[in-house]
Amino acid sequence: MHFSYVTLFEGLIASYFEDSILKRAIAKGLLHVSFFNPREFTTHKHGKVDDYQASGGAGLVFFPQPLFALLRSIQKKSSNAYIIFPTPSGKPFTQNDAKRLAKKEHIVFVSGRYEGIDERVIETFADEVFCIGDYVLTGGELPSLVMSDAISRNVKGVLGNEDSLSTESFEQPLLEAPCFSKPPIYENKSVPSEFLKGNHAKITSLKNTMSEYKTQYFRPDLFSRFCVKHSYDKKG
Ligand code: ADE
Repeated sequence: MHFSYVTLFEGLIASYFEDSILKRAIAKGLLHVSFFNPREFTTHKHGKVDDYQASGGAGLVFFPQPLFALLRSIQKKSSNAYIIFPTPSGKPFTQNDAKRLAKKEHIVFVSGRYEGIDERVIETFADEVFCIGDYVLTGGELPSLVMSDAISRNVKGVLGNEDSLSTESFEQPLLEAPCFSKPPIYENKSVPSEFLKGNHAKITSLKNTMSEYKTQYFRPDLFSRFCVKHSYDKKG
């Protein structure tokens, strides 16, 4: 998987790949990352990439020329470049998107700053436009990283133990059951006793029940969908 980041702030993104799983994925040749700075493509004599909004109003937006030049140059070199714009006005990014996009060869994330990006750039180049949650961040760098992390975990070989993928929250209609480690009792709080008895059928059944209660409590929206899909009587 090749990720390209179009950003004014390479350092914000690059540091994420300097540790842990994604660092190893790069070392193993499973991931490749590259960076493109719109300032290097502007024809403005002072290196500007942003300007006032045509409609008036507060804030600057990326004007089209540098991004048109930059994205055209990426497309010329990489015919399979799949271009994604993170924006609060995009569709919600989900685990299904992460799995689907893990099959692409080359994804380009275009990070806006200021008030955003001239819509003509998005209309011309976007393969998809995503929002990572109902809040506004200062730029597209964090959303690009969030999406790349979620996508990378679904690229074959990136996770040491791929079994963990299939039991995770969002891989199933319910949230994952709580997990516990050692010791069995810590500061008077005990691991559920059934977990310590080694009866795997009972442990699985208890985990399923915990998943249902947890989902009902934290994500009633997911739980309602689960109930409809499984013609299930809601508890409580
Ligand atoms: N840019 C700023 N906020 C964002 C969000 N919530 N999702 C995607 N891109 C964004």
